[in-house]
Amino acid sequence: MIDLFTPYQLKDLALKNRVVMSPMCQYSVEAKDGIPNDWHTLHYTSRAVGGTGLIIVEMTNVEPDGRISDYCLGLWSDEHTSAFKEIVDNAHKHGAKVGIQIAHAGRKAEDAKVPVAPSAIAFDETFKTPRALSTEEVEEMVEKYRLAARRAVEAGVDTIELHGAHGYLIHQFHSPLSNKRTDKYGQDLTRFGVEVIQAVKSEMPKEMPLLMRISGTEFVDGGYGMKEAIDFSKAYQEAGVDMFDVSAGGEGPITPHGRPGTHGGYQVPYARQLKEALDVPVMAVGRLDAPALANNVIGTEDADLIAIGRGLLRNPYWALEAAKQLKKDMDVPVQYKAGF
Ligand SMILES: Cc1cc2nc3c(=O)[nH]c(=O)nc-3n(C[C@H](O)[C@H](O)[C@H](O)COP(=O)(O)O)c2cc1C
Repeated sequence: MIDLFTPYQLKDLALKNRVVMSPMCQYSVEAKDGIPNDWHTLHYTSRAVGGTGLIIVEMTNVEPDGRISDYCLGLWSDEHTSAFKEIVDNAHKHGAKVGIQIAHAGRKAEDAKVPVAPSAIAFDETFKTPRALSTEEVEEMVEKYRLAARRAVEAGVDTIELHGAHGYLIHQFHSPLSNKRTDKYGQDLTRFGVEVIQAVKSEMPKEMPLLMRISGTEFVDGGYGMKEAIDFSKAYQEAGVDMFDVSAGGEGPITPHGRPGTHGGYQVPYARQLKEALDVPVMAVGRLDAPALANNVIGTEDADLIAIGRGLLRNPYWALEAAKQLKKDMDVPVQYKAGF
């Protein structure tokens, strides 16, 4: 029987348990230079001390105008690499593995003067209307993802996650709602994502797995559903994605009938369906912070890993607490043994 604290191995990524820190923007780069600071180092190191198996560092962008805000992280120059290395080294010292979520916000880059996107369509009336990237600029964008991946590898990460969900750039390309292009990147909606995957993989050691976060469904009128998500994920799997992190939504304002449930594990069915359809490892996310529920999702093999978001904002020691509640063995830092 496997449970939340059974070790997990995917290629060279060896995790001591199945608890993953979900990527969560901190909006805390006061210098606006995209470089992680003290806050980020403490924030991520404390989750490593708290027993998290894999930490996925928040959305980290491939160019300055690819950030949601000027306070978000980036990996667009070699200057960034050493600050990320400090985070990775610290987390390793305390037993966690680390990935970085590489991204571009596209039309959802709120502080960019003129955001860029597949097509000149605004997210809604509160967002700026983006400029459509030229074909050559899309090709250059693929290169920016590649260079960001190279820097992540140089910083010592154990894996990379591509952000293909929540209405950010890769999602904008594969969604028919936001990609109305007529060039090669519009004729095949997965082409941009596929090229990014191949470029990023070319920078990663062969046995380092590539993760990709996708939205399994769009909660929007006319948006895609699980059937289409399985189709585009198949193309991404063939291009080199080793595991999908299955979330949902983000490509438009939620329409009332499309509103997701708010119950525990509300996105697990998307992860399970993708796993079954493509025979691919998956990570489930979304209101899984009740340890018994997270343990159940692993035990029933609906997902291979569990990403915890807000639960880990509330409690950096979520994994240690969960092990205690579930009566599982776990190495507690010697300094904290009395507390457990
Ligand atoms: C403050 C905050 C920031 C977030 N930033 C990101 C992000 O950078 N990348 C991402 O893919 N999801 C982001 N998310 C979504 C979370 O990773 C997660 O999918 C979501 O919170 C649902 O999981 P939970 O119910 O365990 O919180 C963010 C969520 C929160 C609360």
